Amino acid sequence: MAAAVSEAGGLGLITAGTYKDGAALKAEIAATRQLTQKPFGVNITLGTRRPMDEFFAACVEEKIKIIITSGRNPEKFVPMLKDNGIIFVHVVTAVRHGLKAQELGADAVVVVGCEGGGHPGMDDVSLTSLIPKAVDTLKIPVIAAGSITDGRGLASALCLGAHGVQMGTRFLVTKESPAHENVKSAIIQANENDTIMIERSFRNARRVLKTPLSQWVLAKEIEGASFEELKEVIGGEAYIQVMAQGLLDKGVLTMGQGSGNIHDIPTVQEVIDRIVSQANVVLAANNCL
Ligand SMILES: Cc1cc2nc3c(=O)[nH]c(=O)nc-3n(C[C@H](O)[C@H](O)[C@H](O)COP(=O)(O)O)c2cc1C
Repeated sequence: MAAAVSEAGGLGLITAGTYKDGAALKAEIAATRQLTQKPFGVNITLGTRRPMDEFFAACVEEKIKIIITSGRNPEKFVPMLKDNGIIFVHVVTAVRHGLKAQELGADAVVVVGCEGGGHPGMDDVSLTSLIPKAVDTLKIPVIAAGSITDGRGLASALCLGAHGVQMGTRFLVTKESPAHENVKSAIIQANENDTIMIERSFRNARRVLKTPLSQWVLAKEIEGASFEELKEVIGGEAYIQVMAQGLLDKGVLTMGQGSGNIHDIPTVQEVIDRIVSQANVVLAANNCL
């Protein structure tokens, strides 16, 4: 998937947290290099129960040029990134966190609006509000994320001042995506109002498909349930059952509100070509080029 995105003109990312240790990540980096000569990056989501030191060391040893950190404060790893000349991008959901990342030496930030998939923050601030505020406040480039699925989304992010975009849900629904076919169909069927936010009570808000199970999770959170009590359906094992086996009644499916604008399963190359050509048309029509 990462190789396909890079081959198609984007920057593909391997997610370190998918692998159990540094050796497994190194093997995946080597496998990706077999498929593309183009640059690709590694995302390291901090704060999960994974061997972070090993992941960073693996990236250095493999001479990865771009690392995108997310989840927690990356301060501990910054010297290692800088000493090795690695471009370091940090994902934030609030401008104040962007400022902190800039202070730490980040080369760019990804700002994620609350409409996005994954963990789009606790503040419920939309991307339309975040981008201009972030570009006015920060000196480093701002990459926008959250419900961007097509060229109109890219064009609007650029018009608001962003320097690029990051997309999740749209790429989940592509031919090369390793997600189960049931996941792809569920996203195609979902509308823009078919997601809810769970895990807010654990200060780790996550946008997921609205299902009887995710609504049950939300109700249990309101009753004060602990993470341990809900782990069976929101933990890592359930995530794999949903993503790899398509068992949508066993766990929750993370996705953004952009699902309302996803109607097909194209190749990654088709997604990127469509986005670029549509953005060019939209920008030209509005005299923005
Ligand atoms: C299924 C799924 C898994 C994700 N996993 C990660 C992750 O491991 N690390 C991370 O930084 N972001 C992760 N994200 C967030 C994306 O990187 C991106 O910021 C987000 O998907 C943008 O919103 P969109 O899905 O509406 O395009 C994930 C998103 C989705 C949908």
